[in-house]
Amino acid sequence: MEHYDLIVIGGGPAGYTAAERAGHAGLRTLLFEEQELGGVCLNEGCIPSKAFLRCAKAYESALGAEEYGVKISGATFDHGVALKRKRRAVQALVRGVAMKMRAARVETKKERAMILGDKGGKFLISSESGGQVSCERLLIATGSQPVIPPIDGLKESLESGFAVTNREILDLSAPPARLAVVGGGVIGLEMASYYRTAGSEVTIVEMLDHIAGNTDPDLSHILQSSLEKAGVRFCLGQRVTAIRDKKVLAEGPEGPMEVDADMVLVCIGRRAATEGFGLETLAPQMERGAVVTDEHLCTSVPKLYAAGDVNGRVMLAHVAAREAEAAVHHMLGVEDAMRYDRIPDVIYTHPEAASVGLKEAEAREKGIEVDVVRLPLTYSGRYVAEEGLGGDLCKAVVGKADRKLLGVGLTGPYASEIIQGVCIALEQDMTVEDLRRVIFPHPTVSEIVREAMFALP
Ligand code: NAI
Repeated sequence: MEHYDLIVIGGGPAGYTAAERAGHAGLRTLLFEEQELGGVCLNEGCIPSKAFLRCAKAYESALGAEEYGVKISGATFDHGVALKRKRRAVQALVRGVAMKMRAARVETKKERAMILGDKGGKFLISSESGGQVSCERLLIATGSQPVIPPIDGLKESLESGFAVTNREILDLSAPPARLAVVGGGVIGLEMASYYRTAGSEVTIVEMLDHIAGNTDPDLSHILQSSLEKAGVRFCLGQRVTAIRDKKVLAEGPEGPMEVDADMVLVCIGRRAATEGFGLETLAPQMERGAVVTDEHLCTSVPKLYAAGDVNGRVMLAHVAAREAEAAVHHMLGVEDAMRYDRIPDVIYTHPEAASVGLKEAEAREKGIEVDVVRLPLTYSGRYVAEEGLGGDLCKAVVGKADRKLLGVGLTGPYASEIIQGVCIALEQDMTVEDLRRVIFPHPTVSEIVREAMFALP
């Protein structure tokens, strides 16, 4: 029987990053992935949705080109081209992951792994093809699956194709005339943004009284009004109770309501994928359906690790990749620990919304006295020159006593790129005064962060 230093189950950002790092460090590593390498992020999440949204942006630019002195008549949008472009991007990146695995001498098996148990301190795994392998350490990186709640008619609607999840919505041959989106979270907003531009009439039905989960309300209001301006309809405070006959039925404070639709996207969250591969034979401690891990991604079973969505901590690809590194470092005896307090998040709508660190409400809940600044992006010369008068905002939260930067959120072009600089500032525990002394390139939209520091007391 072949024996490995490490076996990884799952080839998404957690699994392939761990395998790559372990392979380069000289661990004999085997990676099981039954579908394409890259996981949900690459194949049916972050990457395909970004490819789509880029096409939407090109079309929006064409429609708004007159403001820039460009006359384009008869601009149309071809979803089929967007689909092909998305597939090319995904295929290229999947090939890239495979190359990385080869470069790190990671063996890969495109099969479903089944954990058989542990024997003499080694984990036993069988593959679909029948062979058995063993390993010293096992990393579970099986990701997550969409939550499918017991909503009346949902099961049948998913079977008939009237209802879809994040997977199918990225492969439609044509935009539906009327798309109802159940859940105004990240997936719902990004897909609403794309399909609205692609020509669908889009209605978002969200049970909370606001969209975008725990995004700062100042930012989520801007997102909502931008999407409304683009024609997306919002039904907030409405819990979906049934899906049937080209209809979504919901219940709100003013009673029941209905949304007519030709397709329903159900995106009300994801849950850790912990079943169907023999994890129960090892019986790690579980909580709310996810594998419990510490800051080294160790589970309650010695030498069993879990990284990425499967541990249910923060379901984001960049968290998964960093967790994978912390897990491999622990295996190698290199000092490292995962921290969950400075994780950036981005919603890639138009405009983008990005934030990192403490939000105003969180700081106040923790009893931290803070100074808060809200600055329109029009304080950035580049923003005004390029975008006009917008409606975007940068919000920064700093400690009153120590003047340390605690968090920043912003909407607008490049928000996803700008936030990275803020991540470094937080990592370095920078104060308002430190940031005021940093030279930002001019003119850039990122200067808004520096402007915000000067707008503080
Ligand atoms: P989500 O948790 O972001 O949003 C789900 C929304 O559905 C919530 O606002 C919730 O209140 C609502 N909801 C739940 N039950 C409902 C009902 N019966 N009726 C109406 N509304 C209901 O989940 P989502 O959008 O499915 O995303 C899943 C995961 O994927 C998240 O963890 C997210 O972080 C990740 N993701 C991240 C992206 C990014 O970083 N840009 C992009 C896409 C996904």
